[in-house]
Amino acid sequence: MKEKILVTGGAGYIGSHTAVELQNAGYEVVILDNLSNSNIEVIDGIERITGIRPAFVEMDMQDKAKLQQLFEDHPNIKGVINFAASKAVGESVKKPLLYYRNNLVTLMNLLDLMPQYGVEGLVFSSSCTVYGQPDRMPVDETAPIKPAMSPYGNTKQICEEIITDTVHAGAPFRSILLRYFNPVGAHPSAEIGELPLGVPQNLLPYVTQTAIGIREQLSVFGDDYDTPDGSCIRDYIYVVDLAKAHVKAIERMLEKKNAEPVEVFNLGTGRGVSVLELIKIFEETTGVKLNYKIVGRREGDITQVWANPEKANRVLGWKAEASLADTLASAWKWQLHLREKGIM
Ligand code: UD1
Repeated sequence: MKEKILVTGGAGYIGSHTAVELQNAGYEVVILDNLSNSNIEVIDGIERITGIRPAFVEMDMQDKAKLQQLFEDHPNIKGVINFAASKAVGESVKKPLLYYRNNLVTLMNLLDLMPQYGVEGLVFSSSCTVYGQPDRMPVDETAPIKPAMSPYGNTKQICEEIITDTVHAGAPFRSILLRYFNPVGAHPSAEIGELPLGVPQNLLPYVTQTAIGIREQLSVFGDDYDTPDGSCIRDYIYVVDLAKAHVKAIERMLEKKNAEPVEVFNLGTGRGVSVLELIKIFEETTGVKLNYKIVGRREGDITQVWANPEKANRVLGWKAEASLADTLASAWKWQLHLREKGIM
C-alpha cells in the first residue's frame, strides 16, 4: 500500500471519482465529508468498484477540534486533496457569508493543522472561473486572473492566494492548484456519478434529466453569442480523466518533483464545444431526442472558454483521453441507473 491520502469532500462528485482512482493506484484513502451535498451510499459505490472500503469520517471541517481529532485517529496522512466546498454560483450570490465561511475557514483549518501532522502536500480544487472571460483562447495558466463574478468564484481566487501565501511564508508542504474546466460524466460502472439536489444548475445533469423525463424541457441559454452557432462554448472534461489528474498531482508532490512549491495546472481537453453541439452529440450517442428550446442568456455566463492543457500534459504526464461521445454516454448510463434504483 502506498501513502495515506485524505480526500475532503470525498463523497461528492469529483471527490468520489478521485477516491476510486487513488485506490486503483494503490493509495490508502481516508474520506472526510459533511454529507451536505452528498450521500453516504457513495462509499458503498467506491467499495464496489475498487473492492476496498475507504475509511470514512463524517464531519464539518469548520470544526477545527474535530479535524485535529481526525489527524490523531488517522496518523501518517501524507497528502490532502481538498474538494470540500460549496459550489453553487447562484446560491453564493444569495448567501455570500455561507460561502466565505465554508470555503475559507475549512481551508485555513486544514492549512493550520497540516504541518503539525507532517502532511507533505495539498492538492486544491480550483476552477477556470478564476480567468473570467479570458482575452485569448485557448486559456493557459499565465492568463490573468479576472475579478470574480460571484462569491463562489471569489472563494476560489482567495483560496488560491491563501495557499500560495502560506507556502511562500515557509509552511513545510507543497501545493498543486488544479483549475478544472467543466467536469461531466460518471464512472463507467455507473456505481458513482453526479447527484444534484433539486433542479440542476449545470448543463449535463439538466440534459440527462430532460432526456429521461424528469424535466420537461431543457432551456438553452442564448443563441446570439459571438460563436459559430451562437451558443456558449465550454471545455467538457470527463470526470474520470479529471480524477486521474489528481493522482498524478499527488505523485508529483510526494515524490518531490515540483518545480515550484506551488504549481498551477489547467485541467481540460483543449477542445471547445458549444451547447448546441453537445446536445447533438448527446442525441446521436444515446439515440434519445432531447426536448429543448432556445431562451434568453443566463446572467453571468461568459461566451466561451476552453483550456490549453499543454502544461498538464507535459509536466504532469496526464492527458484527457475520453471522447465527448463516450463521456455523454456515461452520464446517460448513470441517469438510467438512478432510474433503475428508484433514486430519481
Ligand atoms: C458553472 C460556473 C463555474 C463552475 C461550474 C461547475 C457560472 C458562470 N460558472 O460553469 O464557476 O465552476 O459551473 O460547477 O455559473 N446551460 C444551458 N442550459 C442549462 C444549463 C446550462 O444552456 O440549463 C449552458 C450555460 O449557459 C453554459 C453551459 O451550458 O453555456 C455550461 O453551463 P454550466 O454547466 O452551468 O457550467 P458553467 O456555467 O460553464
